[in-house]
Amino acid sequence: METVVSGIRSTGNLHLGNYYGAVQNFVKMQHEYNCYFFIADLHSLTTHPTPANLHGNVKQVLVEYLAAGIDPEKATIYVQSDVPEVTELYLYLNMNAYTGELERSTSFKDKVRANPDNVNAGLLTYPVLMAADIIIHKATKVPVGKDQEQHLEMARTFGNRFNRLYNNDYFPEPYAFSMGKNLVKIPGLDGKGKMGKSEGEGNAIFLSDTPEAIRKKVMRAVTDGGPTTENQEKPQEIQNLFDLMKVVSTPDTYVHFDGLYNSMGIRYGDLKKQLAEDMIVATQPIREKITDIANDAAYLRQVAIYGAAKARESAQKTIREVREIIGFRKF
Ligand code: TRP
Repeated sequence: METVVSGIRSTGNLHLGNYYGAVQNFVKMQHEYNCYFFIADLHSLTTHPTPANLHGNVKQVLVEYLAAGIDPEKATIYVQSDVPEVTELYLYLNMNAYTGELERSTSFKDKVRANPDNVNAGLLTYPVLMAADIIIHKATKVPVGKDQEQHLEMARTFGNRFNRLYNNDYFPEPYAFSMGKNLVKIPGLDGKGKMGKSEGEGNAIFLSDTPEAIRKKVMRAVTDGGPTTENQEKPQEIQNLFDLMKVVSTPDTYVHFDGLYNSMGIRYGDLKKQLAEDMIVATQPIREKITDIANDAAYLRQVAIYGAAKARESAQKTIREVREIIGFRKF
């Protein structure tokens, strides 16, 4: 059976981008593959969370993974920092990751631009840690959003480089993967690029948002003055709303509003109202479970301990073999 690995950085509540880009895929894949899903708390250290925030954020992601339907009996769910073998592999891979290629990564350049005062080495080697996360379980499929494709390419590079250096084929190549559809990009509500927590207040819809909060954010989404000719191409902020509709609404609803846009009869207020209601319906089953699971400390503890043990078993085997390949020997 093929192995699947994916993680989400623990920066707090999951948004629709996390859900449709990744978690929804996790839930489907757990029935068909040997799955490892983790909470990337080590990656979150690049932005220096306080101890209280760090734990709260990890807990929130764990709760929402479970509320979204990841089953700890089917998939291995764990917290990245509970598996220290990952950091050891990260160190080995760092020896063959070149600063030039790391500096050229799009996500690194974006982060440097966004936070020029916090260009730490962890940020530079973020893709190396991510590669370690994946290849430590020898995964071949990685359910992620479109924004992670370059990171996957780097993971293949680092695994292949290790193989070449030690003249073997130990690590298989991991590829970005989506069940059914193509990799999705979930846009935010600010009229610009992707949905993300760091893209500003109101840009992201969270799984834990109340219906009221969802309505408010969607109604404030950026729009333009409306189409000026029939069948014109949609500007990005409008295309974004249609892209979101494609994900949460029925095909009929999408076609209805697309037709109104093309005939210049569209009222953005109506489109937003519909979009908000469809988002509320889509997230309702998850929202209902979040509070219950969050209050069950004993269950969360049990899930984390069980998952860490399973993940470590796999990771320890890899580290044993990697040490042997590199040439570390016991006296
Ligand atoms: N970089 C991913 C993101 O920002 C999170 C991540 C870390 C990840 N390690 C991973 C995703 C390993 C898949 C596999 O969303």
